[in-house]
Amino acid sequence: MSAPRGLRARYGPWALVAGGSEGIGASFARALAAEHGVEVRPLVADLADLEALARIEEAVRALALGVLVCNAAVVPSGPFLESDLAEKLRALDVNCRAPLWLAHRLAPAMVARGRGAIVLMSSMAGRQGSALFATYAATKAFDLVLAESLWDELRGHGLDVLGVCAGATRTPGWERAGARPTRLAPPVMDADAVAREALASLGRGPSMIAGRWNRLATLAMEKLLPRRTAIETLGRSTRAMFRARG
Ligand SMILES: NC(=O)c1ccc[n+]([C@@H]2O[C@H](COP(=O)([O-])OP(=O)(O)OC[C@H]3O[C@@H](n4cnc5c(N)ncnc54)[C@H](OP(=O)(O)O)[C@@H]3O)[C@@H](O)[C@H]2O)c1
Repeated sequence: MSAPRGLRARYGPWALVAGGSEGIGASFARALAAEHGVEVRPLVADLADLEALARIEEAVRALALGVLVCNAAVVPSGPFLESDLAEKLRALDVNCRAPLWLAHRLAPAMVARGRGAIVLMSSMAGRQGSALFATYAATKAFDLVLAESLWDELRGHGLDVLGVCAGATRTPGWERAGARPTRLAPPVMDADAVAREALASLGRGPSMIAGRWNRLATLAMEKLLPRRTAIETLGRSTRAMFRARG
């Protein structure tokens, strides 16, 4: 789709949101399209499939892609030893391999133009061990570190790369997971607010945490608590969430 004026002037006319059909991805798509005369080209593709990724590359080859948002995620949850291995491996493909692949294949044209932006969706869950979300959390740690590394490598070429740590956000995926707000966690955010904050943070640093309460919680978890206590605290919160959903 064509990008809104501020971002469009900075990065170029086209944006690709991988995983833009609902939730935070749809909010990214709406925010990027929040201007008259946008042209949207939906593409149905399974991001776990390398041939589908190649089709995406082909579809954007002739466009001056300014913004790439890697948003899609598979979220395996539940006790590690009782949950499906195939779903865990699919999470690796969608959450890690696809963003890596897209960044590798689409960034060179941005570098050649001397401008562009790449957003990789991470999560608060990816900042430390997260019981009952072990695979998901590990994939989100990958996304965060990949984004921060590319921020440093590519900024000299005019690219802004950003890792976005969202906390609990009300989306269809969040609802499907049976997640419920708990008093042990920061308030649930609105998807539009997450996308808006993320886009406003482009060019301001390697990564960001969406939402004031999530930033405060991170400060406590990372600066005040020993890592072991932080992991145990988060584990209590996820166990409470699972108990609540029955
Ligand atoms: N919601 C939260 O509480 C929360 C918290 C922290 C981080 N995040 C991160 O924010 C991002 C979006 O989360 P969300 O809650 O908005 O998710 P969501 O409501 O489940 O939406 C996920 C999007 O990804 C797409 N997608 C999933 N698997 C795909 C695949 N194999 N191929 C292509 N598209 C695929 C979905 O499209 P289809 O339905 O068409 O497959 C959908 O558009 C994720 O990276 C997630 O890790 C979310």
